[in-house]
Formats: sequence, structure tokens, C-alpha cells
Amino acid sequence: MSAITLREVSKVWGTVRALDDATFTTREGQLLVLLGPSGCGKSTTLRLIAGLDSASSGQIEILGRDVTNLPPAARNVSMVFQSYALFPHLSVAENIIFGLKVRHVPASERAARLKRAADMLGLAALLDRKPSQLSGGQQQRVALGRAIVAQTPVCLMDEPLSNLDAQLRAEMRREIRALQQRLGITMAYVTHDQVEAMTMADQVILMKDGRIEQDGAPAALYERPATIFTARFVGTPPMNVIPADAIAAAGSADPLQGAPAGSSLMLGVRPEHVRLVESGGVPASVTATEYLGADTLVQTRVGSSEMMARLPGRIDLAPGAAVRLDWQPGSRHWFDAVSGLRVE
Ligand SMILES: Nc1ncnc2c1ncn2[C@@H]1O[C@H](COP(=O)(O)OP(=O)(O)O)[C@@H](O)[C@H]1O
Ligand SMILES: [Mg+2]
Repeated sequence: MSAITLREVSKVWGTVRALDDATFTTREGQLLVLLGPSGCGKSTTLRLIAGLDSASSGQIEILGRDVTNLPPAARNVSMVFQSYALFPHLSVAENIIFGLKVRHVPASERAARLKRAADMLGLAALLDRKPSQLSGGQQQRVALGRAIVAQTPVCLMDEPLSNLDAQLRAEMRREIRALQQRLGITMAYVTHDQVEAMTMADQVILMKDGRIEQDGAPAALYERPATIFTARFVGTPPMNVIPADAIAAAGSADPLQGAPAGSSLMLGVRPEHVRLVESGGVPASVTATEYLGADTLVQTRVGSSEMMARLPGRIDLAPGAAVRLDWQPGSRHWFDAVSGLRVE
């Protein structure tokens, strides 16, 4: 069954269309990531699903039920906010079961759910502490605990890891994913971090300016980006997208062979698919290199366009060095420069 469905949903604030005609659906048990740059409408979408804001138009369904006009409490979803929103004067235990108390869940049931969540999240020894006595990661787990004890089949999370350092973030993202799968819940998870999206999601909805840019599995967004925006948003460093003319002008037609017809064609090649060759390929000049340990990023110039190569190991190339770049025909992506859309 579909867990969350939006049909032509818009949210207008004055003159801003925070969400513009969004239609999507996610199945039960999926981890859906809403991805996109700041201000693209991710939080708005989540708040509309939770019922914290109401849609200007369109319809929202949760588990087959039309919830468009229902208040948050009647929607049976839990939500974890970016700020955690913990009560500073309450202990960890009290914070976790606060919502259950409000809903008059009996004390014995509250205790049982608290124990289960605390064990699962490694918080059992911290239940008497106040939030100020916890690290960022521990506070984050308390916020998660609160969502878990609610035992709702749908959980919404708005950038829950953005306050954590990189290592803890990587750890927590694995924990959240494991938890979501163990509990079999549907999760809608907001982030601007494409790595988070790629590593956690079953389904990614990439947004831009209130509109859905692409909706698909992480691999689909990486392997077959529908637009230049998706191509450059997903993957690090971003895909090289340069005018096909620039390649031709650089003195080699080879890397363009079999290109679709069209006058304003852009060629996309991921840095990890570019390699250096002795002959053939595209002549380029090195502008900078960055050694990352496992790989080296080689920034080059092809005519007036920049082109990045991500090469395995350590590559010593001085700025100004002449190189030749090549790629497999199958790793090319074509886009229309005007519409930004993928061309087959
Ligand atoms: N309460 C509000 N009043 C007016 N504008 C808002 C409000 N909430 C969000 N917006 C605007 O809607 C757009 C989308 O915001 P938001 O959904 O918070 O983006 P994101 O979460 O992707 O960063 C932004 O332009 C933002 O300024
Ligand atoms: Mg937001």
C-alpha cells in the first residue's frame, strides 16, 4: 500500500510558492529522502505531511486515508525536528515519554516502550540526565527515542543530523537506517546532503524551487539524471557538464562520436569516469590537483570550460601540464542546454 501520497499539492506564502504542484507517492516500509538545496521546499513538504501547515491546494493521503484536512494529532505520524526540540527541564526518560503522557497511554505501557527504545538506542544509562548533560549525538538519540515510542507507522525527520560532526553523522545515519528497517516503518527524511540521500534512501525526491526535479532510486538519479540540475547535485565532485562544442573545438571528435543530433547539446561526464590517455581523447591543460589519499582530483581546462577528473591513487601533475582526457561512450550523458533536460 502507498504510505504517503501527495496529489498536486501546493503551498503558497504570499508571493512565494514554497511547494508547487507536487505529486509523488512512497510505499510502506520505504525510506524516502526529500533532497535539495536550502529553500527548495523540503521542510514545507514535511510540515504539510505532518499537518503542521495546511496545503493551499491539493490532496495528501497517509496509509490510504485522506488527511488533507485532519489536524496533526489525527494523522498518526511522528516527527523529529532539526533542533531536536527537547525540553531542557525534563530528564531523558521524561522527554522520551512526554508525548505518550499527553495521549494518556497507561504508565505500565509507557515504561515498557521507554525501556525498549532506551535499549535500542543505547540510552539506558542516561535516562535520569537532563538534555544539557548530553552530547549532540545523545540528544539526537533522545529525539529519535521520542519518535520510536510513539510507534507510528510513519515517521518524519527534518535534517536530524545537521548539528553533528561528520563522524557521528555517518554513524547515526547507519543507525537510523537500521532502525527504520528493523521497525519496518515508513520514513520521510529531509536533507540537503546528497551523500546522506544516496546512502540511506530507497527513494529520493530531488527538489528545486518548490518543484520536484526527479523522483527515483538513488542509483537512478546517479546513473540516469533527468536534468543538468540532478546531474550536478548528485555525486561528488559534481558531474562535468560542458558544451559539446567545446569538446569539438578542443580538437577531437572521438569523444563525441554517436552524439544525438541537436544544436545546443551539453555533454555530461562524471569525474570518476574520466581517465588520462596517451593519444586520442580531448586535449586539456591541468589547472590544479588535489590529493585525497585514495584518489586525486585533477582540475583541467578544455578550451574555456573546466573539466574535473577523479583518478585512483596519487597523480603528480604540475599546473599547466598538457594531458589528454577520455571516457567510455557509455559513461556519457547528454542534455539540452536550453531546457536542461536529458537527451537520449
Ligand atoms: N512560514 C513561512 N512564511 C513565509 N515563507 C516561508 C515560510 N516557511 C517557508 N517559507 C519559504 O518557503 C520556501 C521553502 O522553505 P523550506 O520548505 O523551509 O525550504 P527547505 O526546508 O528546503 O530549506 C523558502 O523560500 C522559505 O523562505
Ligand atoms: Mg528545511
